[in-house]
Amino acid sequence: MTVNTSRFLPDETATAAFGAALAKVLPPGAVVYLDGDLGAGKTTLVRAALRALGHAGPVKSPTYSLVEVYVFSSLYWYHFDFYRFNHPEEFVDAGLGEYFRSDSVCLVEWPDKAAGFVPPPDLVVALRFEGDGRRVVLSARSPEGEACLRALAPPTTGTTSSAAAS
Ligand SMILES: Nc1ncnc2c1ncn2[C@@H]1O[C@H](COP(=O)(O)OP(=O)(O)OP(=O)(O)O)[C@@H](O)[C@H]1O
Ligand SMILES: [Mg+2]
Repeated sequence: MTVNTSRFLPDETATAAFGAALAKVLPPGAVVYLDGDLGAGKTTLVRAALRALGHAGPVKSPTYSLVEVYVFSSLYWYHFDFYRFNHPEEFVDAGLGEYFRSDSVCLVEWPDKAAGFVPPPDLVVALRFEGDGRRVVLSARSPEGEACLRALAPPTTGTTSSAAAS
């Protein structure tokens, strides 16, 4: 079963607040796909998540580095961006599979660019342009992902099964 919820994010502050809330509910081992067009707010959301966990330094987009690493206690957070992949096999060539572990949280921008090689998600966070703001659509893809959705504050629209939420 796919569980979808969505909520409207009127401005960047709302995206940041959502990122901070999400950071608090992701367990070790979680894989999160961040879906959405260029400029949708994926990196903005990750930056806020890392700040909420206590990261004080810069959070730069991994567009060129492929992955940025953050460590909180003994938990590793990896922020990926596969936008520049020409072929999904580049995921394997770069040895990125070893980052996906039970003691890491993986946040992945442009996962489709590594389709077939990047491990499946527990949660898909899709950001869509809506007016001057964004709509975030959350899809749980595992029991762990469903627990994350339950732990988040109530959404502005209802929970549905299988069908995409609007
Ligand atoms: N809810 C929102 N409403 C309006 N603007 C927003 C909202 N959330 C973020 N933004 C703005 O949208 C832009 C998002 O840029 P960001 O780099 O986070 O996008 P991205 O999805 O990571 O893009 P890319 O695919 O290029 O990596 C920023 O300028 C940010 O201020
Ligand atoms: Mg980005």
